[in-house]
Amino acid sequence: MPDTIRTRVAIIGAGPAGLLLSHLLAASGIESVVIDARTRESIESTIRAGILEQGTVELLESSGASSRVRIDGNRHEGIELRFAGEGHRIDFAAQIGRAVWLYPQHEVLKDLIAARLAEGQDLRFGARAERIEDADTDRPRVVCVDADGAPFEIEADFVVGADGSRGVARAAVTGSRAGGYSREYPFAWFGILCEAPPSSQELIYSNSPDGFALISQRSDIVQRMYFQCDREDDTAAYTEEQLWEELQRRVPGTTLKEGPIFQRDILRFRSFVAHRLLDNRVALIGDAAHTVPPTGAKGMNLAVADVVILERALRALLQENDSRLIEAFPDAALKRIWKAQHFSWWMTNMLHLTPETSEFDRMRQLGELRTVVESDAGRTYLAEAYTGWPLAGL
Ligand code: DHB
Repeated sequence: MPDTIRTRVAIIGAGPAGLLLSHLLAASGIESVVIDARTRESIESTIRAGILEQGTVELLESSGASSRVRIDGNRHEGIELRFAGEGHRIDFAAQIGRAVWLYPQHEVLKDLIAARLAEGQDLRFGARAERIEDADTDRPRVVCVDADGAPFEIEADFVVGADGSRGVARAAVTGSRAGGYSREYPFAWFGILCEAPPSSQELIYSNSPDGFALISQRSDIVQRMYFQCDREDDTAAYTEEQLWEELQRRVPGTTLKEGPIFQRDILRFRSFVAHRLLDNRVALIGDAAHTVPPTGAKGMNLAVADVVILERALRALLQENDSRLIEAFPDAALKRIWKAQHFSWWMTNMLHLTPETSEFDRMRQLGELRTVVESDAGRTYLAEAYTGWPLAGL
């Protein structure tokens, strides 16, 4: 017989969604076990997006999950949209009095892991979930293999799939890994990290005749930049000089400050929303439930919003035996998920060129961008969506 661990909530996945959920549940006195197939080092070093919505920052801080975010993170009160050779600032502070923070996802993960371990959380790295069993009963189980290959099981009152788009939970809830609404994009992002001073104080999202580029930052000495590339591109296919040429051409009007490029990656992306987010005692959150294209940096923020809704529903279910909120969880979460899906799709379409983009489409895109930057309503919509709609009940 494999070892069986008994807990209240079994959480598959130690990404932002799984770790934050276990942190908030613990604050309410609900114990959980978190497992992840990856090592701690790999989780803490994987490069992801860097923008946190204001609500995400407030929650990380007020819940004690991260005390560093406001100290080491950088508050940004606007972004620049660049097109037709002109830059247009969207002033979040002036439009709606809100802001975002540049604080990379892996820093959030370091904070969350440290906070969980300091509180004695049962957090197992290198432990892979193989399948979920008895999902239709009140004692669902996660069948797992530990870092040494030994089988074990977690028996819980509730199982949460926070194991990303390639995890086992999505298929367990929807019936298949592809069980959702989805959309592909005929391009990808080429991302670089370089050692250089910032080229701009705020992020630049640029629509250029040569395609999209995003000029982001990491610190005074490290910068993050992306440019639109082919899905089949290879990181090794470009010399450093060619990478700077590609980036530079796409932000006409700005001279980028160049420096050694020490990391390159290609991000292939899609839009996806699972057909089902709940199957009796198993729920999906974060990338297991949905993925968004990176334009607008909604991925982790959307995971945080799922957690807020699910955590409250689990408290009602596990502490008061009230199942109304858990039954309402999918509809409550999906409202924001589809707003964020729309925003990410819209930003992506407005800023990228596709092989099919006609002259008409190109001119229409510029008209769309002008509609946004020259209208108070347009700028306000972008500012609201980018900084994040209020989190339910916070
Ligand atoms: C970053 C990534 C994004 O997708 C985005 O919209 C903004 C910033 C980043 O990695 O810095």
